[in-house]
Amino acid sequence: MKIGSRKEFSGEFRIPGDKSITHRAIMFNAAARGEALITGALLGEDCLSTAACMRALGARVDIEGGSVRVRGTEEFCDAQLYCGNSGTTMRLLMGLVAGRAINAEFTGDPSLSNRPMERVASPLRALGAEITTTDGKPPVRVHAAPLTGTKVDTKVASAQVKSAILLAALGADGETTVTEPLKSRDHTERMLAAMGADIWQKGTSVHVRKSRLHAVDVEVPADISSAAYFMALGALRGETLCKNVGVNPTRTGILQVFDRMNVRYRLENERTVCGEPVADIRVYRSDLRSVSLSREIMPLLIDELPLIAVLCAYADGESVITGAEELKVKESDRIAATASMIRAMGGDCTPTADGFIIRGKRSLAGGAIDSCKDHRIAMSGAVGLAASERGGEIKDADCVNISFPGFYEMLGE
Ligand code: S3P
Repeated sequence: MKIGSRKEFSGEFRIPGDKSITHRAIMFNAAARGEALITGALLGEDCLSTAACMRALGARVDIEGGSVRVRGTEEFCDAQLYCGNSGTTMRLLMGLVAGRAINAEFTGDPSLSNRPMERVASPLRALGAEITTTDGKPPVRVHAAPLTGTKVDTKVASAQVKSAILLAALGADGETTVTEPLKSRDHTERMLAAMGADIWQKGTSVHVRKSRLHAVDVEVPADISSAAYFMALGALRGETLCKNVGVNPTRTGILQVFDRMNVRYRLENERTVCGEPVADIRVYRSDLRSVSLSREIMPLLIDELPLIAVLCAYADGESVITGAEELKVKESDRIAATASMIRAMGGDCTPTADGFIIRGKRSLAGGAIDSCKDHRIAMSGAVGLAASERGGEIKDADCVNISFPGFYEMLGE
C-alpha cells in the first residue's frame, strides 16, 4: 500500500465504533436474557470473531447494516471457539465460559497463538476453574467446574485479565474482588452494571457477586484509539475534527500526552451516551515538544504508544518512554516493530527493555515500512509516512481491517 506525502491534512471524520465496547456489547448481550440492538458497532475482524464465537455458544447474533442485533442465551453449549487475531475475544470469553460450567476449546491465528494466556487462566483457577493452556499459550481448554468467589490481585494492569475474572465471577458463589496494580479501562464494569449485575468499584478494586444479566441496547461511540491517528494528523499537518469519540477517563491518556507535547486541541459537545462519556475532538497544527512517559500512565494509552512514538519522532528534543513492557505481548512485539517502523522512515528510535528512546527530527524522509501484520503498526506508520517528505509504502497493510475498516480511504488513499 502506497502512502502519499501531505503538506496539509484537514477535515471532519466519522471514526468507526469503539472496539472494546463493541466486543463487550456483543458478548455480554449474548449471555443475557432478552434482545438488544447495538448501533455504531465496529464491524472489524476482531469484533466479528466475537460475534462468531457467541453464535457457536448458542446466541443469535445478526449483522443488520451497521448495527448488530443480539438475542442472548443463559445456557451456553459446549463449543470450539476460533478467536482469529483477537486477544480480547479469547481472554474475556475464557472467563465468561468458565462461569457457565461448559466445556470449550479456544484457538487463534498465528499471532494470537503466541500470546500469553496464563495471566487469565491462573486467576480463574483461583475461583475453581479447570483450565489448561499449551505452554502458557493457546490452544486453551476450559472444562466445566463449579466456581467460588475469592479475592484476586492481578499482576498486570490489564482490562482483559480483569474482565475475564469479573465475567467468571458472575457465575461464582459468593463475592469476588479483583484488585489491579493500576486501573485499566472500565468498560466491562460500566456495561455489566447497566445490565443489572451486582458490581461496584472502589479505587483499583472491583467487587462482584453472582448475577444474571438482562439485555441492553448500546450506542457505541467512536474509538479514541482509532480517532488518535486522525487527531495526530491534525497536530502534524492541519486541523482535524473527530466526531462522537468515547472519552472515558480510563482511555484518554493520549490527551494527557497532547497536553505535555504542546498539542493544541479542544473537546466540544461533551455528553454521556449509554453510561460512557463522549465528545467531539478538534486538534490544531502544533509545534510538538518531546515527552517522558512512565508506567503509571501506560494503561490509559497502551494501544496508542506506537502512534505516540511517531509523534515523538516529529517533536523537538529527546523523548523517553519506560514501563511499557506489555507492548511486547500485543499483536506483534510492538517495542521492536515500532522502533523498526520509525527507523524505516528516517527517524531515530532506540528500543529498550520496557520502551523507547526517540530523538525527534521535525522532518522525516519516509520509506518502506513492515506492519508485522499488526494493525496499530500499519496505521501509526501510515500517519508517519503521510507527514513525511516523500511518503512511502506499507507491507501487509490489510491488517488495518482488524480494528479500522476503511482507514486508507479516510486517509485519502
Ligand atoms: C483491551 C484491553 C487492552 C488493549 C486491547 C483491548 C480490552 O489490553 O490493549 O486492545 O478491550 O479490554 P490489555 O487489557 O491486555 O492491556
